[in-house]
Amino acid sequence: MELEVKAGKVKDESAEVLVVSTTEKEVNGSAKIVDEALGRGISRLVEEGDFKGRFNETAWLYPRGEGIAAKRLLLIGLGKKENLTLDKVREVSGAAAREILGKGLKRFVTTLHGVGLLPYPPEVLAQTVIEGSLLALYKFDQYKSKKESSEEGGEVEQITLLSEEEKELPGIERGARIGQIVSEATNFARDLSNHPGNVATPTMLAQEAEKMAREVGLRCRILYKPEMEELKMRSFLSVARGSEEPPTFIILEHNADKKDLETIVLVGKGVTFDSGGISLKPAEGMDAMKMDMSGGAAVIAAMKCVAVLNLPLRVIGLVPATENLPSGSANKPGDIVTASSGTTIEILNTDAEGRLILADALTYAKRYNPQAVIDLATLTGACVVALGHIASAMLGNNRDLLEKVRAASELSGERVWELPLWDDYKELIKGDVADIKNTAGREGGTITGAAFLSRFTEEYPWVHLDIAGTAWTNKGVKKSYLPKGATGVGVRLLVQFLRDWRKQKTEKR
Ligand code: BES
Ligand code: MN
Ligand code: ZN
Repeated sequence: MELEVKAGKVKDESAEVLVVSTTEKEVNGSAKIVDEALGRGISRLVEEGDFKGRFNETAWLYPRGEGIAAKRLLLIGLGKKENLTLDKVREVSGAAAREILGKGLKRFVTTLHGVGLLPYPPEVLAQTVIEGSLLALYKFDQYKSKKESSEEGGEVEQITLLSEEEKELPGIERGARIGQIVSEATNFARDLSNHPGNVATPTMLAQEAEKMAREVGLRCRILYKPEMEELKMRSFLSVARGSEEPPTFIILEHNADKKDLETIVLVGKGVTFDSGGISLKPAEGMDAMKMDMSGGAAVIAAMKCVAVLNLPLRVIGLVPATENLPSGSANKPGDIVTASSGTTIEILNTDAEGRLILADALTYAKRYNPQAVIDLATLTGACVVALGHIASAMLGNNRDLLEKVRAASELSGERVWELPLWDDYKELIKGDVADIKNTAGREGGTITGAAFLSRFTEEYPWVHLDIAGTAWTNKGVKKSYLPKGATGVGVRLLVQFLRDWRKQKTEKR
């Protein structure tokens, strides 16, 4: 994808397609300039009731040179002015891009939606428009031997961001670049999650991480079984024991040797297929469990952004990767293992495997002496019940860190909702025969899952994001920029969080 940013008169832009937007009721925003050049061409459309400016509503206009150099105009509605948000700008940008892709067009020029209507600088709007477009144009079709329609076969090759304000260009360029880096990384995470379990194995994840690290200059180390045994990661290894696929423990490091920098560790659950193990899941829908490494994918992809943006922090990504399968050597309900922290765990349900592998990864994080640790995991079905596919659950042990993650969530449009992690919940996972048990049953499942993890995070500020509901979409979420399948959730949020880490009071954008 080629991205271009330029200054110029909207009406003089001889584009194949020019995208402009307006809210309901009045013709405003970028559509206004075009409306004047067209001799009220858009106002007339509105007066006739053929275009109302409703959110995501589109109309095509063919100006034929009448005051407008563009061949086609795509008009898109922003909805009610008072309801406009940054995420809606992301959505309309995605809807416009999909409309253009559907027509088989290869390039388009777009104005910055929301300019003058939202209190954000052009830099932020540029980032948002590019995110919406690139995330919406994502397709996962590499396993289709024939492409059926232009929408499936064609690609948009070039996007131009147009601004009438020459002096805004540097900001718009910066925003567009960040938008492109974050979106391409999100699409990389989506690819990893969308690949089936027989392709995206723990070994493949490690190879992808190594390849990415070489490209962007991150340090990457993979631990294999002998090293994990050395480190006594017996909780993680107990899950891997049920599978023929060798487990990997992926370590990505940015500014590893600069120990004077503040250190943040990101941890992602990397279960490349979760059958449940001996506590086998029902057959229906089990195929979706190829995405149980989405937390790991988000961490790998976010680390790519950290390196490309060269953030002035020490950032570490950890991904324990394994399959969870039943076999003669698999965990059995009732088994007891000792994690690398020394904590003993009674495995009452082999399907609560995510917390078993995270226990050792969160323990490993301690060696970096981090100022913050954030883990992302498709941890509990209970989270899908509680929050659906709209928000990730957030829990943690440090108010300041929780607020920072919440702020990043609002800016990135990746929603989180906090659940309580009171000591009463921690009581529930205390073990009868071992220190703790890996499940306290169905009730409050997301919280007791986090309570389990909290036993391994006592020495640093920590936030856990349960992305079980948000990592995947097939129904329920109708956002233009979230095509079916893996969403790549977490990448935008993590990058926003890391970019803002040092701002004491996060500015309202
Ligand atoms: N990977 C699943 C959670 C999940 C469910 C993710 C649905 C996405 C969609 C996890 O490993 C799991 O199986 N959790 C169990 C825990 C229970 C046994 C305590 C669950 O939620 O049922
Ligand atoms: Mn499971
Ligand atoms: Zn799982």
